[in-house]
Amino acid sequence: MEPLFPEDNSGELEALALELISKASRLSGTMNEDTRKAIASFLRPMNSYYSNLIEGHDTHPIDIDKALKNEYSSDKLKRDLQLEAYAHIKLQSIISEEIRNGENSINPTSIDYLKSIHRRFYEHLPETFKEVKSKDGLSKIVVPGEFRVYEVMVGRHIAPFSEKLHLFTDRFEEFYNPNHLTNKSKVRRIISIAASHHRLAWIHPFLDGNGRVVRLYSDACFMFENIDASGLWSISRGLARKNEDYKSHLAQADLTRYNDYDGRGNLSNSKLVQFCKFFLETAIDQTEFMFKIIDTRNILAHLKSFTKLMVNKGDLRPEAEFILSDLFLKGKISKIEAMRITNTSDKTLKITIDKLTEMGLLTSKKESISMMYYVNYSVKYSPMIFPGLYPGNKEVEMYSNI
Ligand SMILES: Nc1ncnc2c1ncn2[C@@H]1O[C@H](COP(=O)(O)OP(=O)(O)O)[C@@H](O)[C@H]1O
Ligand SMILES: [Mg+2]
Repeated sequence: MEPLFPEDNSGELEALALELISKASRLSGTMNEDTRKAIASFLRPMNSYYSNLIEGHDTHPIDIDKALKNEYSSDKLKRDLQLEAYAHIKLQSIISEEIRNGENSINPTSIDYLKSIHRRFYEHLPETFKEVKSKDGLSKIVVPGEFRVYEVMVGRHIAPFSEKLHLFTDRFEEFYNPNHLTNKSKVRRIISIAASHHRLAWIHPFLDGNGRVVRLYSDACFMFENIDASGLWSISRGLARKNEDYKSHLAQADLTRYNDYDGRGNLSNSKLVQFCKFFLETAIDQTEFMFKIIDTRNILAHLKSFTKLMVNKGDLRPEAEFILSDLFLKGKISKIEAMRITNTSDKTLKITIDKLTEMGLLTSKKESISMMYYVNYSVKYSPMIFPGLYPGNKEVEMYSNI
């Protein structure tokens, strides 16, 4: 699978890696920590939506929202997709916690870690999603966290022989380990995130689930490098929106070396360079997109029109707008503050607080003697408050579902 690192004399990959670092840091400087956390948690369902969509599992965001509320469909396929979405969302949350709290003690490139991503995803999947048809036409069961013992083809690429998988994953871990002395340069490590995305897909270590695992792995690497802006962006939306390009770049990078000018490894260097460019450009694009989505003026305007809509429906009182705006700007407010900004009594405020809580737009916590309200967001209202995250047709349906 050499080369593992793209040789790019043009310097474009380095420039893209630097641009990603700077755009991610611009994104993380945009808001207070509580709001950032709330938005990051609100974005995990979206990430699961797009990563599963790339594999042809189109789970409606409305159904994802219901799964998060423990409302499962009686339709078997819908329910299975809901379980899958839920498993993905929970796992991504655990990964982000453990990488952030682990202070870089976790090496996302290690075999153990890759297996643990797969295990923690697959052990929650319904049985039907653990069954695959292999080349011989017989069905095989995917074992959570275990490398495959069968041979697989990915498009036209014949993945490494199952008995030799450990040789490839050992080399993968040794080469890409971000704590390794040869990987001291941050720019190099970021280019490696792109290159290793392809090489892991190329190894295809699991019988199924490689796509989801590879994308969770890439997000884990961005977290490890602290360029995920605390979860304000992730890779799957960008890859899903360019799904055809993604798959064709992956397939191109599977090709063997073209001629003597195409690197020194067995696989093509120039195709690896192109894959890495595509991958880093996609990442940059997502940071730019999210920067626009969470622009303060935009959000405040959306909160205003959202409240108006809900007031017309009889679901909210007009002063809810002040609470929603303040929560976005500050992340949390005390009950006293909430009474002041809404100019309402304890009793009237309670109506609004209860409603916002029920809508998933606020959480409360008692802190010492005062009641604190925290910012929260719900997939259900995504098209109104953060329009554009989901595909247009899905957002229209979500809109008419409120
Ligand atoms: N030609 C290719 N070379 C390498 N990887 C590929 C290629 N085509 C697709 N892939 C990767 O393989 C994934 C599909 O593999 P699979 O094990 O079925 O994963 P999942 O179960 O998550 O769908 C795709 O999401 C993509 O990341
Ligand atoms: Mg699959």
